[in-house]
Amino acid sequence: MANPSLATLSLGARRSVLAYMSVTILVVALMMLLGLALRLSQAQVIALSPALFYQVMTAHGIGMVGIAGLGGAAIMWYFLNQYVKLSIGIFLANLLLFLLGVVLILGAIFLGGFAAAWTFLFPLPAKPMGVWSHAAAASYLIGVLVIGVGFLLLYLDVARAILVKYGSLARALGWPQLFGQDDGNAPPPTVVASTVVAAINILSIAVGAVILTICLVNLYVPEFAVDALLAKNLIFFFGHVFINAAIYMTVIAVYEILPRYADRPWKSNRVFLAAWTATLVMVLIVYPHHLLMDFAMPTWALLVGQIISYTSGLPVLAVTTIGTLALVHRSGLRWDLPSGLLFLSVFGWGAGILPAIIDGTIVVNHVMHNTLWVPGHFHFYLLLGLGAMLFGFGYYLAKTDGRLKGNAVDALSFWTFAIAGLGFVGMFLLSGRHSIPRRWAVHMPEWVPYDRIASAFAALVVAAVLVFLVRFLSRLRPMAAAA
Ligand code: HEM
Repeated sequence: MANPSLATLSLGARRSVLAYMSVTILVVALMMLLGLALRLSQAQVIALSPALFYQVMTAHGIGMVGIAGLGGAAIMWYFLNQYVKLSIGIFLANLLLFLLGVVLILGAIFLGGFAAAWTFLFPLPAKPMGVWSHAAAASYLIGVLVIGVGFLLLYLDVARAILVKYGSLARALGWPQLFGQDDGNAPPPTVVASTVVAAINILSIAVGAVILTICLVNLYVPEFAVDALLAKNLIFFFGHVFINAAIYMTVIAVYEILPRYADRPWKSNRVFLAAWTATLVMVLIVYPHHLLMDFAMPTWALLVGQIISYTSGLPVLAVTTIGTLALVHRSGLRWDLPSGLLFLSVFGWGAGILPAIIDGTIVVNHVMHNTLWVPGHFHFYLLLGLGAMLFGFGYYLAKTDGRLKGNAVDALSFWTFAIAGLGFVGMFLLSGRHSIPRRWAVHMPEWVPYDRIASAFAALVVAAVLVFLVRFLSRLRPMAAAA
């Protein structure tokens, strides 16, 4: 088990990791404030005009998805760098391109009025009914494209570095040990997960770039159109794989940090290797579960969407959940903020998948898909799963390299985050259960009580995350100086 610490990194690498994590936690907190504004507006506590509501919803959606990828990349890079030689220049270039893309996207939304949601479904960007200009739509599409280019460079560098060390992707995935004799020399979990992420995200970004470019050209040359259903397939392939890969990067924090607390290694055994190989294939073919309401889709594709929904996330989730329980059981593990948040994250990820699987069932989907059940399931594993992994990693750095001493405020914020987080996602799910539609700026009076309770929980989550942010930033100087 490698023992990484910021102190073992070069000054440039150390500062880059800290820059990534500072931007990540700051942007997550800001995007949560936007999310809170959406909920408060549905609750009729504050008034956002419908136009502004959809601008804020677009910013919150793309902002959260993008920052999940950035924070995940920081975790992956930090740990993978212990095993293979990654380029700091490319790591930094990704951050700079990300920030450039953010400026273009924010300008498109808040100056240009772009509000087509983060999914920019064709042909909506080009048909704004006078709400935004083509320039605003172009700025959004170029912004996402620029961010994609940065991530593509990063994943190409990850794939290069892994190939240099392991010789082939098959070896980096542990296939000789999986399909042949297990000599006990399988690559560590971080390498296996990073290989899967690089492979799937190079594909997803390439597909994303194709559809973004088509939409961009279509803005100015309307005859250059694409079939709307094909466009939707491409967009959801891109979006689905990207956000899944973000979780697969953040979960590396669980594989690397919890074993240190438990003083037991997390081994790449055959079951672990098989799970990640299965995920490599299934995550690429499961996306049709986003199109179950599109009657024009071929039936076989929808059936694949349903069947693979039942199996796609499960292998990796099962090995991670069972692995975590086995690691923690009778290990005398020290509970503190990093270990607590990482343990919570495995629960959040695992429990959040269940309502997702229910929604992936065709007959249920026809009733539930456009309700708040959907934000209910993805906020569950993104907030309490991925979010908790990001904060857990941030606290880990602040503790080990920034000498942060845990206090009662940390403990209070942890429990507030966990309990209010559950309450917040529970209200989304309950609202979906009562058929309250998703993405509606204005809510009927009988829906408002749900929105108000959800807003109170959301405000508590934001308060806890602001504490995480302040605590992380307060140790920035010692972390940067760690040597
Ligand atoms: C305090 C925390 C959060 C609050 C209050 C919040 C609130 C909201 C609200 C009210 C919506 C619109 C729901 C609707 O009516 O359809 C939404 C959508 C969304 N949220 Fe969050 N959210 C939070 C955290 C997160 C996190 C951590 C992520 C991801 C890492 C995330 C990603 C998204 C995405 C992708 C959408 C979909 C936007 C769309 O439908 O186009 N949110 N959120």
